[in-house]
Amino acid sequence: MITNKDRLFNLSTKRSTYLFAVTETGHLEHLYWGRRLNKDISIDSFAEKRSLNIGGGTAYDSDHPTLFLSNLALEYSTTGKGDYRESSIDVEYQKGLRTLDFTLQSFRILKGKPRLFGGLVESYGEADQCTTLELTLKEKLLPLRLLLTYTTFEDSDVITRRATLHNDGQESVVIRNLASAQVDLEGNWDLITFDGAWGRERHVNRKEIKPGIYINDSKSGVSSADHNPAIFLINEEDECLGFNLVYSGNHRELIERSPFGKTRVMTGINPSGFSWTLTGGERFQTPEAVMTFSARGLEGASQNFHTFINHHIIRGPWKFRERPILINNWEATYFNFTEDKLLKLARESAALGIELFVLDDGWFGVRNDDTTSLGDWTVNPKKLPSGLGALSDRIKKMGMLFGLWVEPEMVSIESELYKNHPDWMIAIPGRNPSVGRNQYILDLTREDVRRYLFTTLSKTWKLADVNYIKWDMNRIFSDLYSLNAEMSNHGEFLHRYILGLYELLTKLVTEFPAVLFESCASGGNRFDLGMHCFMPQTWTSDNTDALSRLYIQEGTSYAYPLSTMGAHVSSAPNHQTLRRSELESRFNVAAFGVLGYELDITTLNHQQKETIKAQVAFYKAHRSILQYGSFTRIKLANSDSNQVVWAVASKDKSEILVLFAQKLNPVNPGGDILRVQSVDTNATYEVFPRQQKIDIKMFGDLLNMVSPVHITEGGIAQETMSKALSFDSEVEHYRVSGEQIAYGGIKLNQQFGGTGYDAMTRVLGDFGSRIYLFKRID
Ligand code: DGJ
Repeated sequence: MITNKDRLFNLSTKRSTYLFAVTETGHLEHLYWGRRLNKDISIDSFAEKRSLNIGGGTAYDSDHPTLFLSNLALEYSTTGKGDYRESSIDVEYQKGLRTLDFTLQSFRILKGKPRLFGGLVESYGEADQCTTLELTLKEKLLPLRLLLTYTTFEDSDVITRRATLHNDGQESVVIRNLASAQVDLEGNWDLITFDGAWGRERHVNRKEIKPGIYINDSKSGVSSADHNPAIFLINEEDECLGFNLVYSGNHRELIERSPFGKTRVMTGINPSGFSWTLTGGERFQTPEAVMTFSARGLEGASQNFHTFINHHIIRGPWKFRERPILINNWEATYFNFTEDKLLKLARESAALGIELFVLDDGWFGVRNDDTTSLGDWTVNPKKLPSGLGALSDRIKKMGMLFGLWVEPEMVSIESELYKNHPDWMIAIPGRNPSVGRNQYILDLTREDVRRYLFTTLSKTWKLADVNYIKWDMNRIFSDLYSLNAEMSNHGEFLHRYILGLYELLTKLVTEFPAVLFESCASGGNRFDLGMHCFMPQTWTSDNTDALSRLYIQEGTSYAYPLSTMGAHVSSAPNHQTLRRSELESRFNVAAFGVLGYELDITTLNHQQKETIKAQVAFYKAHRSILQYGSFTRIKLANSDSNQVVWAVASKDKSEILVLFAQKLNPVNPGGDILRVQSVDTNATYEVFPRQQKIDIKMFGDLLNMVSPVHITEGGIAQETMSKALSFDSEVEHYRVSGEQIAYGGIKLNQQFGGTGYDAMTRVLGDFGSRIYLFKRID
């Protein structure tokens, strides 16, 4: 709901209110963003008091000697009129002049949401789901018009924002910065960011915001694993603000605490390295910023984001549709596979109930390692003599869907594509280009490059009749340069690249409406809302180790729902960490996401295959909750706690699945307590763990305590027994009220601690875990 009364704009959602007012000078003063206010608003009580001078400050003008923009909470700020904080807009005109002053000219309130232009992607909502406010501000002297657009989404307590700059004059100006949103806040806040690198994406970092500037950004051309564009601010009252950006390129979130204790938060395209020449009559629009408020802390704010993403970002036939369990051949074979090997892998996977076979890297050109063939999207007849179409046919006859890996944005020097079009590769004439994973990036700002990719990819995908595409991107940008004549200013390059990528993806998803796309960039180097406008899911990380995944999936879950997170069970020792963890535990963690398997199933023994079969059946039975349920983090991986507890609940709370994982096996521990607040406190639940298999190898030579024959650790007898035999996990079962679960918790069976073992003993070991089921029985 958006209303205007005199000077006041009120943007309210179900549980939040956002207020600003127009000052006597036409500036927009931010007043409030917090819990929903339902009574009449007094502007006076929220507005900055300004009867006195600010020592050392610069007043707006002589007619307003006590108006100091440096201590006004503003909706959008400029440089040169007394606000010395970072500004939202920076435009260079006439010989480097930068002073700007925008004041309100007019506004309109509309049902629904007008579309973005210029190739950006955005959230969507029907006229009854959202309302838009469009403010037109005019520069005092220059022919520049600034449109600030706000859209409120009732269902998720989200407000989205964007800015559009129109050059109504004849002369060109250069945009150095145009933020998507700015909010100036009162009070003390902690900042939460999601930082990392390849293999350890989106780890949670929390810090107190002190005077000065903090920047969370990316300069590599992708939204990045280094610093995700999602951030949260949280205060002592557990009120939480969340920000994200619908964009896949360089972003910047700037947080500045002013000398007067105000905190400015800004998000948008990273101004570092960016400049855009706006000629007369042209306009430039920013990506859409997504903002939420919750009085229920991080849990509330992240649930708002989950609802928003599932309802207003993900689109197409896979929206809210259960995603298939896949088998991916990458870690099973890497580049070294034959048609027979793939068919065997598919056949055995199908027998376990797996639904989608994904052929990863190495099927095209002459690609037997990562040095060649990117760009040549035609099948390698040596590896796949019957061709892609025949392979896909045979796999589909097994009752599976067929998926294919591609990395279209790239080119290898050793490729037909490079031979024929060396100028399509991004490189600066005369300079030796920098390289990543032996590969280079194609210039997607060029229409001819995009046309080639569309034609080649469409042909191959049709040939293989694909149901799923994994769109990979394994290096980041360097040597920015383009022959594209549209571009007079190379500061535009990275933004134009993203627009080119979005245009290509728009054409492809339109041509292949039924295909499920999964975004990937060396794992999670481009986990963002821009890519999610095309691709309902993203490969969360190349690191599939169960312990590492507790941190990575937990960090990712703050801003993104489980339905977006690809999570695979891989082999042990893990290929990234060399850590050994139990097959059941790898599953338990991967089940809190979109499940897949990425290991050579053909080499597993009967016990292991039976275990996977049971896992797949369990996941299918609870998939709608595991992908679309309401997710809460109870004990955090990213804390000193040895235990990690997550819960995901059905909408009506009739069924809840709870992950209990431990980092290391404690010796002689006290009792573990399972306390879950997301239950219905008026109901009664049946609570029990998913039955797991315990590999007898876990017990090492302790088996000799019960075995009639001597068993040597690592010996043939142990191996043979482990193939034929496993123990069932503990028997544990409760009928208990929701209020007991929520207010006291369930004291679980004792863990194995070297003092004995019986049918009740919980044997978890290092990196061990369980999934508990909570079923409402009345
Ligand atoms: C990086 C991806 O993250 C992996 O899953 C795999 O697809 C490789 N690329 C293939 O080169």
